[in-house]
Amino acid sequence: MDHFRIKNGVLHAEDVPMTRIAEDIGTPVYIYSRATLERHARVFRDALSELDNPHIAFAVKSNPNLAVLKVLANEGYGADVVSGGELTRALKAGMKPDDIVFSGVGKTHDELLQGLREGIGQFNIESEEEGYELAAIASRHGKRAACALRVNPDVDARTHEKISTGKRENKFGVPLDRAAEIYARLAAEDSIDMRGIAVHIGSQLSSLEPLETAFAKVGALIADLRAAGCTVTHADLGGGLGVPYKAGEKMPAPAEYGAMVARVTKDWNVRLAFEPGRVIAGNAGVLLTRVVRSKRSGNGPPFVVVDAAMNDLARPAMYGAWHDFEAVEPSGERMTAHIVGPICETGDTFAMDRECDALVAGDLAIFRTAGAYGATMASSYNSRGFVAETLVDGDRYAVVADRIAASAIMDAERVPDWLT
Ligand code: LLP
Repeated sequence: MDHFRIKNGVLHAEDVPMTRIAEDIGTPVYIYSRATLERHARVFRDALSELDNPHIAFAVKSNPNLAVLKVLANEGYGADVVSGGELTRALKAGMKPDDIVFSGVGKTHDELLQGLREGIGQFNIESEEEGYELAAIASRHGKRAACALRVNPDVDARTHEKISTGKRENKFGVPLDRAAEIYARLAAEDSIDMRGIAVHIGSQLSSLEPLETAFAKVGALIADLRAAGCTVTHADLGGGLGVPYKAGEKMPAPAEYGAMVARVTKDWNVRLAFEPGRVIAGNAGVLLTRVVRSKRSGNGPPFVVVDAAMNDLARPAMYGAWHDFEAVEPSGERMTAHIVGPICETGDTFAMDRECDALVAGDLAIFRTAGAYGATMASSYNSRGFVAETLVDGDRYAVVADRIAASAIMDAERVPDWLT
């Protein structure tokens, strides 16, 4: 459930009419709802109530905005980070170092050191090589690093191939059949504390089955490790729960996920961690845009050109993703149109042959489910600058990320003397 609803004929974010935000800030602009973020955070936590003290680490990559992170920090969430930049953000938003998990296949020397210095709670090691490098850095700096070994369970998540991470051919984790020996070797290093297993098989999963298969494999590995004399006190089950992008689309409910996890892990005797991203932030944000013009070419539906583009919301161009598209002040009339942005490539298409509210030049509209993997994947392609972000709270809102004008980006560029 979200808080983006029509009231008196105008789409509101909580109690703020979107027309007001467009007038004040201009478009395109992301709008997040605090009440929705909090609701999702609580629903997810409640879904895990059968577990003993689960650790919930919001996947910062899905929405790294400081204000969004602050809302989740206030809800007691920690963070799953994948870069030094994300780690800095999580700390700045007030997440406790001990509640931060550092994932990612390519953590650099400096990032590992940053994590050690900040005293983060856990490194999710993605290879034996990374484990030795971390051990060496920790030993040099007189630190001890708590670690989980990320395994690749070779399970098909049945999601878009670009966001599948748990197949043998993907770059993530260590192969399951080698995990026990690698874990034992890394556990022998004095400066790292091998304490658990991590797994994450992909994002936008529409079925719990692949997750259950992967978790069962982790359970068997934990038993094998203990039988071999290794200590295992933690398991990180990653993120991945899908969200509805189309009105009426069915997705597994967090409660069903929680029940499955409780059943599969009941004998594990570990502290469980979770890294949800999309399920928290996805439907807590929309991208507000204005129609620039409508043009006809040939006999097909019109092209409705909006002022948002693939640089602001990359998902349709990158993954062929669907985002519901709705008028802010719907007249009740409908039309079929191609919804496109102004960028000079055909990939800058949000939807083809979409049945939607009738819109003309100047009208406002939203793309829904844009709170996760939206603004964070923006670029300045076509010298369009970076899109602004706002957070609504009841009848007030704040700009939580300024629009970065193309000219400001240009300010960071230099023409060397030898070209003048
Ligand atoms: N943990 C790890 C290790 C991850 O790699 C990810 C997402 C998550 C947690 C959070 O997964 P979630 O709960 O959000 O599904 N840009 C793509 C999504 C990429 C996901 C990458 N990893 C998109 O727009 O669909």
